[in-house]
Amino acid sequence: MRHPLSLVLLCLAVGGSVGCQSGGSMNSTSVEVETWGELDGDRVQRFTLRNGNGMEVDLSDYGAMVTRVQVVDRNGRAVDVVLGFDSIAEYPEKSQYFGCTVGRVGNRIAGDGFDLDGQSYQLAINNGPNHLHGGERGFDKYVWKSTEILTSRGPGVRFTRTSPAGEEGYPGTLEAQATYILTEEDELVIQMSATTDAATPCNIVHHTYWNLGGHGSGTVLDEMLEIDADRYTPVDATFIPTGELASVDGTPLDFRNGKTIGSDFGAFPGNGDDPGGFDHNLCLNGEVGVLREVATLSDSKTGIVMTISTDQPGIQFYTGNFLNGMTGKGGAEYQKNGALCLETQAFPDSIHHQGEPGWPDVVLKPENTYGHVMVHRFSTEGIATSESE
Ligand code: BGC
Repeated sequence: MRHPLSLVLLCLAVGGSVGCQSGGSMNSTSVEVETWGELDGDRVQRFTLRNGNGMEVDLSDYGAMVTRVQVVDRNGRAVDVVLGFDSIAEYPEKSQYFGCTVGRVGNRIAGDGFDLDGQSYQLAINNGPNHLHGGERGFDKYVWKSTEILTSRGPGVRFTRTSPAGEEGYPGTLEAQATYILTEEDELVIQMSATTDAATPCNIVHHTYWNLGGHGSGTVLDEMLEIDADRYTPVDATFIPTGELASVDGTPLDFRNGKTIGSDFGAFPGNGDDPGGFDHNLCLNGEVGVLREVATLSDSKTGIVMTISTDQPGIQFYTGNFLNGMTGKGGAEYQKNGALCLETQAFPDSIHHQGEPGWPDVVLKPENTYGHVMVHRFSTEGIATSESE
């Protein structure tokens, strides 16, 4: 039974953790917190959000990340649709940015830096000849501060961290926030924001690996994907955009009418160090800064459907091309293409295209606030099948 959030929310202190529930049912809206382990002497916590419909989300303050999203499938079974590890110790060792908040600048910056306001800034080269996902130790590799929250939309956790001026070569002290809320409408809402005391590039990105058939259930090539994007940013051999905003018309990147991910997969074969597969930024239709539905993913085995809404200009569609058969939660095997990321963002390497028509402004100034919203809404489609089918 659903408990509307307008019911009085009771917040209870339970054994050092905070649990909040509506209407007295133990299974309804709540936030729970536990110590998960320790990394480099820092305590790492894990949080569980629950709504009244059986949906659950686990988060951690390490990397402000999502480690589990449990959704009820069309047969009433609980399915965990994100990749992750059982122990926190495995994340720094094995994770390829699983579920985390990437920053200060998600995706690539060409070469080893950029110029801003007449000054040159040097960044780490950590991906071929380029800078990737904020550098050697990006936002994903820190324990963030956390606060459990109860909002009118549902339970959540707010993570914050201060990125000092000069961290990974970036200018300005950045105060970053990533807030997760699980709503009674089965939405996982992610709000990212930041302020700075000096101009800096800023593009904070959420990096969950999704498999709506269940994590470890095989590849995502049979999943259906629709993306509302007329254009994409073609890249060179090192995944740096050429500067062109090309039409998706007649290309494998045309997902406007929906198709299975596998249908045009062969267009991107592996080659040397490049494992092949989709790893592209699409330029989303609609007004930047306005929350709009941009992508729908569905799995025919579970009937689970996920729609993504965002206010961002782009989305990185990445088919887990570097997954290598590592062992994940509960012994699951994460094979190549066993999940996909749909990372809303400013276009990769935007800092080298400031002022060019169609390119996003990625410079955050002290007088402004960076904002980025993602809403993942879950539902099911199709007719329930019997156990024997
Ligand atoms: C990038 C890939 C990269 C992956 C790392 C994605 O956001 O687009 O190129 O390999 O992150 O997990």
